[in-house]
Amino acid sequence: MPCSGLIAYRELTEAGFDVRIFERDNVPGGNWHYTEEVPPDAPVPNAPTVIADFVPSLPPANVDLPYSEVFEDEHGEIWRDHRGPKPVWESLRSNAPSPVQQFPQWPWPAGTQWELSHYQLRNYVRSYASYLNINSNDENPATAYNTRVERIEKRINQAGKEQGWRLWLKSLERIGSHTYRATWWTEDFDAVAVTVGKYNAPSMPSIPGLEEWVQRFPGLLRHARQYRRPEAYANQTVLIVGASVSGSEISRDLNRHAGKVYQSFRPDTDGRLHYRLENYMRRIPKNTTLVGEIKQFLPIPEGSPIQSGLVKLKNGTILPGIDSVIFTTGFRYSFPSLPQYYDGATYLPHEGSAKSVSPFLPLDGSYVRDLYLDIFHIQDPTLAFIGRRSDIGHAVIFLARILNARTGKSLVEHGKASKQSNDAGTVQQDCGRARGIRKARLVLGSGTELRHVVSSLSRPGII
Ligand SMILES: Cc1cc2nc3c(=O)[nH]c(=O)nc-3n(C[C@H](O)[C@H](O)[C@H](O)COP(=O)(O)OP(=O)(O)OC[C@H]3O[C@@H](n4cnc5c(N)ncnc54)[C@H](O)[C@@H]3O)c2cc1C
Ligand SMILES: NC(=O)c1ccc[n+]([C@@H]2O[C@H](COP(=O)([O-])OP(=O)(O)OC[C@H]3O[C@@H](n4cnc5c(N)ncnc54)[C@H](OP(=O)(O)O)[C@@H]3O)[C@@H](O)[C@H]2O)c1
Repeated sequence: MPCSGLIAYRELTEAGFDVRIFERDNVPGGNWHYTEEVPPDAPVPNAPTVIADFVPSLPPANVDLPYSEVFEDEHGEIWRDHRGPKPVWESLRSNAPSPVQQFPQWPWPAGTQWELSHYQLRNYVRSYASYLNINSNDENPATAYNTRVERIEKRINQAGKEQGWRLWLKSLERIGSHTYRATWWTEDFDAVAVTVGKYNAPSMPSIPGLEEWVQRFPGLLRHARQYRRPEAYANQTVLIVGASVSGSEISRDLNRHAGKVYQSFRPDTDGRLHYRLENYMRRIPKNTTLVGEIKQFLPIPEGSPIQSGLVKLKNGTILPGIDSVIFTTGFRYSFPSLPQYYDGATYLPHEGSAKSVSPFLPLDGSYVRDLYLDIFHIQDPTLAFIGRRSDIGHAVIFLARILNARTGKSLVEHGKASKQSNDAGTVQQDCGRARGIRKARLVLGSGTELRHVVSSLSRPGII
């Protein structure tokens, strides 16, 4: 519930709504809650998108809710799975200037530098949560920390019509050094805003031989979300796969510590850098060896170490002696609490919930389609996704415009307007299709499409 959740809370409460917030972590901060705790190795092949963030945990059938169970867990796996460690490393700094990374009414102090450490961002987000009286120590009944939303289902009323949503929730409480109590319950709402972030499911490439290497050498082939400190790679030969933002920044961080760094980028078919990567790759240190796309992780004889393995590139080059591989190959959108909206996902609706819905969440986790203004689900605008628009700044602009308290319009009214006049939603769908989107964080771009959306917002009948 950090940036997107905090903004949604503020706008909705100012508009007079009763709002409840559920946050799986123990504090606000979201992505900016850095910990030394590392997520588990990313599976190869990728886990199905619907459960790529976590496998939902529901209470046993036929028990009365709330229902509790006590677990012993010496290694803290239960807690790690529940909170989901965030994909941030120790030296990470913001890549957008502080003036565009701030909440309205909550400016950075005068003189704040533009580039911020993640600790500064965390403190800033926490201070805003305190200002809103929803920090974890505020004892505000609107908040439920340590609480993961496991399932969100559309309810059917007595007249057989769809009405509101039921959430299945699970809280986790540490009650002894290795003992945890899990409690499950449900709560009902008129509308749901999903603000779970975008970087919760790793995307690993499909490369022949990789699955075998990952199984043979646990902990040596890691996704960027597991990267914390360069000292762990001291004097090693490291292969970084990917050369976008994470790839280039990790390359810089590793540079003083690793013995040798290879960095594999794509596409390399024309022998030149792809225009999309130029900006990021400029930051890669000169002594990093840039190499092309990987064709295969060649088989390693039984009992031999990873260093004896060979990595074959598409141009025929062989890379020997790799100690570790870091995949900076991006993330997927994963919404485990909404399995019914994924085509073909196994899903058993609870009694009293809608049985048939139209899937709209792409199975490859590449983007979220059918959203009016990248926010409201066009078929049912009482379901909103906030934070799809890239960063804090975008979220602020869009929410401030759409949920502006001064308009006096409710989320549902905005949604109805979107249904009647969904040009912008249509633009979104068309753009997605036209671009053949593979791994887009945004469907609406920043050019003509964005202007179209902004002008549609100021038309009578919308705001
Ligand atoms: C490595 C990295 C660096 C980045 N650097 C920048 C930067 O410099 N500048 C910038 O503007 N952006 C940056 N971003 C993007 C950054 O993540 C967003 O700007 C910001 O965190 C978005 O806020 P959010 O609230 O949408 O999502 P998040 O910060 O991801 O927050 C989502 C919250 O939802 C909670 N949650 C998830 N699932 C559930 C559930 N089922 N039940 C309950 N709670 C749940 C999570 O615990 C989390 O607290 C970066 C991202 C990454 C991965
Ligand atoms: N503040 C910071 O310094 C900072 C640091 C890191 C990340 N971030 C943010 O985090 C978000 C995610 O960034 P990200 O870099 O992790 O993900 P990303 O931008 O999605 O980049 C993933 C990259 O991996 C490439 N890739 C995928 N498979 C590959 C393969 N087999 N071989 C070579 N390359 C491959 C992709 O290439 P294709 O494009 O061809 O698919 C893409 O360039 C961004 O919003 C970014 O701004 C910020």
